[in-house]
Amino acid sequence: MSNPSLLILPGDGIGPEVMVEVRKVINWFGAKRGLKFDVSEDLVGGAAYDAHGTPLTDETMEKAQSVDAVLLGAVGGPKYDVLDFSVKPERGLLRLRKEMDLYANLRPAQCFDALADFSSLKKDVVAGLDIMIIRELTSGIYFGEPRGIVQEGNERVGINTQRYTESEIDRVARSAFELARKRNNKVCSMEKANVMESGVLWREVVQKVHDEDYPDVELSHMYADAGAMQLCRWPKQFDVIVTDNLFGDLLSDAAAMLTGSLGMLPSASLGAPMANGRPKALYEPVHGSAPDIAGQGKANPIACILSFAMALRYSFDQGEEATRLEQAVEKVLADGLRTADLLGEEGAQPVTTAEMGDAIVAALDAGL
Ligand code: IPM
Ligand code: MG
Repeated sequence: MSNPSLLILPGDGIGPEVMVEVRKVINWFGAKRGLKFDVSEDLVGGAAYDAHGTPLTDETMEKAQSVDAVLLGAVGGPKYDVLDFSVKPERGLLRLRKEMDLYANLRPAQCFDALADFSSLKKDVVAGLDIMIIRELTSGIYFGEPRGIVQEGNERVGINTQRYTESEIDRVARSAFELARKRNNKVCSMEKANVMESGVLWREVVQKVHDEDYPDVELSHMYADAGAMQLCRWPKQFDVIVTDNLFGDLLSDAAAMLTGSLGMLPSASLGAPMANGRPKALYEPVHGSAPDIAGQGKANPIACILSFAMALRYSFDQGEEATRLEQAVEKVLADGLRTADLLGEEGAQPVTTAEMGDAIVAALDAGL
């Protein structure tokens, strides 16, 4: 049997340098755990634009469709701000999500014990926090038509459309309920049913899926603005949150920062099962390309390394190996290692991106 295949798209900014550290981890699993992957690498985002004049070539898109999983670093940077909308780095990522039909975006917000003091919230509000935001990723206002900037009389109008079909809501609701069953069996669905028809439909469909197929899961509904407030007030009331594309974008950044560790959080974007039964999948850190610190050895590689852990769990049926990697990360944090983004106190000495990667590999070794 051939090895499982992995396409690495480092992208822009800190993407390439954190990916170097992920490679060390991938190599470790090959050498020490007999988990070999056929790894290929390609360009996405600004890097692809620079080389090919497009943020994602058709060849790369085809490769992404044919592998078992894609691992992406980050896209974007100020250098590309002037580009036409259709070739901006972000379009490369959005095309991957849309054409691979990766409708369920899993964004865990977990507070690592060693970092509980680092949150902007009080320690008892965040210590032990472990929630999962499921963001619908292939529809809603990100993709709805009509869209554009049009002339109306003597001024221009910017237009985007929020649009959800019943089947789009149905399938992401199912992902949320399935996942909740493996966690604490609670789903909170967030929309704005008080002002948006798409929110009314969202609420109805989520409730119907629940009543028909997941009555054992505890379901609540919240307006997304109130949800944002509750996330800051007492985030531990949540287990799984399911929400649309735009609200999910906002709420997941807020949730990530609660944990004090935006640079630490991974994500998985999953689609329908392929012929081999595994979901189409793309894994990426929640953080962006951080162009201000790119190339300086300051980036935290943990979010990307933990994204690979999610790949082990969700694409390669290697839950135990995923846990092994997550524990290695917890160990280096407990040992006090911190990249620059995790340093609160004055005078503390950060480790570099490479030192963090090496320490995680050493912790993996120590755990054998
Ligand atoms: C994210 C990012 C993206 C989004 C950008 C880079 C297109 O913010 O993954 O959360 O808005 O979805
Ligand atoms: Mg975002």
